Amino acid sequence: MMRRYRNILLIVFLVLFSSELFAAESAHPGLVLAKAPIDRSDMESIKRGATFFATNCMSCHTLIYLRYNKLAQDAGITYEKMPINVKTWPYGITPPDLSLETEVRGVDWIYTYLHSFYQDPSRPTGANNLLVPNSAMPAILAPYQGAQVLAQQVSPHGVFFDNVEWYDLLTLQKQGSMTPEEFDASVTDLVNFLAYAAEPYHNDQTRLGWWVLGFLVIMFVLMYLLKQEYWKDIKKK
Ligand code: HEC
Repeated sequence: MMRRYRNILLIVFLVLFSSELFAAESAHPGLVLAKAPIDRSDMESIKRGATFFATNCMSCHTLIYLRYNKLAQDAGITYEKMPINVKTWPYGITPPDLSLETEVRGVDWIYTYLHSFYQDPSRPTGANNLLVPNSAMPAILAPYQGAQVLAQQVSPHGVFFDNVEWYDLLTLQKQGSMTPEEFDASVTDLVNFLAYAAEPYHNDQTRLGWWVLGFLVIMFVLMYLLKQEYWKDIKKK
């Protein structure tokens, strides 16, 4: 008997905490992930993110599971405005499909990744990344963000750090076409769009969830009154 309860408890525990385990695994040890300030109900932000993604990312990354019909319905963006556009990629590692990226890595991970590219002439792409050391992705956003370099305190023999944010380690050498605030906002839109691409029914589900909870509360009250009614006479005897 105890054994069965133990197994059930174990399953409940695993279901509750499995996503936490995966999230912890994918972060670079020592680097604190910056919180992505996304608002998943902000459709204008998702729209801006989609446009930004189409112009800057779709020459390398696909979004094969993107629900174009849902995107057209919610944001008015059709396949013609965001066609799959991938050309051949010369640097060895094929750029991964990003349609489920926020589910795999989490929004904070992607937000931090896109912020933490820095110049590194020793790399074939001319850039490196704090979260993915020796990343094969070039610093695509550098024209907007500006050129970042590793700060002085980092050892020249490798990147050693503990419990720091990306901006503690990188300095902006020369600002790009955006101010840091504008850049943060653009990356937020981008991550918001990727979260939408991975789970386009998130907002509908949240809305439905409140209706279901409301229904359960009303049912509870009705059932309680019904129970009182049934037991009224029995209790008296
Ligand atoms: C020139 C091609 C190219 C462009 C353009 C590009 N990427 Fe990448 N990206 C790559 C490659 C290659 C990798 C794999 C890096 C590695 O694992 O070393 C990658 C990796 C990634 C990853 C990490 C995947 C993972 O889980 O490890 C994310 C997130 C990402 N790209 C987002 C973007 C976004 C957002 C844009 C547009 C702003 C973009 N990329 C534009 C080539 C590109």
